[in-house]
Amino acid sequence: MNKILIALLLSAAARTLSAQAEQVVGGPYVVQAGPRAATVMWVVETGKAAVGLDPGRLDKAVPILRSRQIVLSGLKPGSTYYYQSFAGEAGKGSFKTAPTTAANFEFVVYGDTRTRHDVHRTVIEGVLKYANPDFIVHTGDLVEDGADASLWPIFFNAERELLRKTAFYPTPGNHERNAGEYYDLMSAKPYYSFDWGQAHFSLIDSDLPNAAPTEFEREAFWREQTQWLENDLKNSQNAAFRFVAAHHPPMTAVTRRQGQNPHMTALEPLFEKYKVTAGLFGHDHNYQHYLVRGVHYFITGGGGAPLYDVDTPPAGITQKVESTENFLVVRVVGGKAIVQAIKPTGEKIESAQLGQ
Ligand SMILES: [Fe+2]
Repeated sequence: MNKILIALLLSAAARTLSAQAEQVVGGPYVVQAGPRAATVMWVVETGKAAVGLDPGRLDKAVPILRSRQIVLSGLKPGSTYYYQSFAGEAGKGSFKTAPTTAANFEFVVYGDTRTRHDVHRTVIEGVLKYANPDFIVHTGDLVEDGADASLWPIFFNAERELLRKTAFYPTPGNHERNAGEYYDLMSAKPYYSFDWGQAHFSLIDSDLPNAAPTEFEREAFWREQTQWLENDLKNSQNAAFRFVAAHHPPMTAVTRRQGQNPHMTALEPLFEKYKVTAGLFGHDHNYQHYLVRGVHYFITGGGGAPLYDVDTPPAGITQKVESTENFLVVRVVGGKAIVQAIKPTGEKIESAQLGQ
């Protein structure tokens, strides 16, 4: 069946089926929580389309998702806000705005929440039990296929109790496939940055193969993003801490994946030059921590995707590697940043003090 026929069938089915009532299938959640503004979002299913190989048998249902958002402005920095998004108890939530002065805060990092939904759920339960984050950094591969609308409600269902009480800052992974659904539901750009108290966060799109259709455009994208990152880091030298988050790590203990991300490995000198405190990555489904010329590299890809071995830890730089589900809790207290890597059971993998 050609693509035009599929599109016609989808549109006809959408007309037939979209008359059903709209229902909430994700959220509420908060993105772009700055000191004075934030965006509250939720996802609704407006109907179902259907597709099949026989005009009389459209046996695959495809939910039609739409994001809803309220942009809040005129907020006070470093404050907790409570909101009602859609109607009912389920539409209630809260979040904190970013402080603009030195303040203690906590954030959680995890990634690769795709595929094993029950494990994803367990990891989120662990975060709720053992941490109290002001915001979340997700290191990518939220879902197995960003363009498959049926997967996003599953993601939001697992994350629900966490996302309704904290702000969310995602980076795109290769499984997002650069799909419009990711950018729409996250109201995100491929790369962006934000400040939280005295810490600066730069989040980039390391999924180069999906970034553009041609080699020429991919190279142009990478040059542009790298230039942006350099300026962003240069302009944040007064911050006490600089964190860079991306999906693909510059190094790995997973033998079959070593040397696979040369575009990320090539960024290491930039991280060193501009004194990045720590890089936060995913893609490898395990826990890894390296220290290279003063820069910490954490790989936290244990959010639900099938685990990978850590068979060949790179010599001389490895701090800790373990093939386990995990998340990072980073606490900035009194000018110090402490990272704790934790299993969903609460068992500690390691802790490390960063910077200063
Ligand atoms: Fe990945």
